[in-house]
Amino acid sequence: MKITKMSRVVFPKQANQRGALFGGELMAWMDEVAGVTARRFAGCDIVTAAVEKIQFYRPIPVGSFVDVTGEVVHVGHTSMRIRVAATMEDPDGGGEETLMADAVFIYVAVDEEGRPQTVGRTLEKA
Ligand SMILES: CC(C)(COP(=O)(O)OP(=O)(O)OC[C@H]1O[C@@H](n2cnc3c(N)ncnc32)[C@H](O)[C@@H]1OP(=O)(O)O)[C@@H](O)C(=O)NCCC(=O)NCCS
Repeated sequence: MKITKMSRVVFPKQANQRGALFGGELMAWMDEVAGVTARRFAGCDIVTAAVEKIQFYRPIPVGSFVDVTGEVVHVGHTSMRIRVAATMEDPDGGGEETLMADAVFIYVAVDEEGRPQTVGRTLEKA
């Protein structure tokens, strides 16, 4: 499996002073989904090595439904690149999804001592 999806609703306690989702909260959701995606794919322990180009496109109001999706987009020797996208459902229920934020997370497969180890799968076999 190379894709993981999580749905959340934005509660007032997760909002900033402008009534929109706090960026750190969204980053934690994105890291969680990316980590689960990488862990499932690698089938062993993983650690976060880097986060590239996280972008927030629009504020996400309290009460919004947010879907966070992680997808393995590249597999190296010991590393994996996971693209994570956060989308918001149309509040009118029209089924439209708007991209609110995205990023690429890089995880490294590690052994019991935390040393990098080979990812034993390729994208073609996912
Ligand atoms: C991630 C970590 C295991 C890498 O160890 P390392 O000895 O530097 O390993 P290497 O230099 O052999 O790199 C391993 C792989 O990670 C990739 N990598 C490492 N740092 C990277 C970075 N900043 N950006 C992109 N890729 C990176 C390398 O390109 C390599 O990929 P490949 O094997 O697919 O070619 C080590 O730095 C570490 O444990 N960091 C702390 C991780 C952690 O605690 N994360 C929690 C959140 S802070």
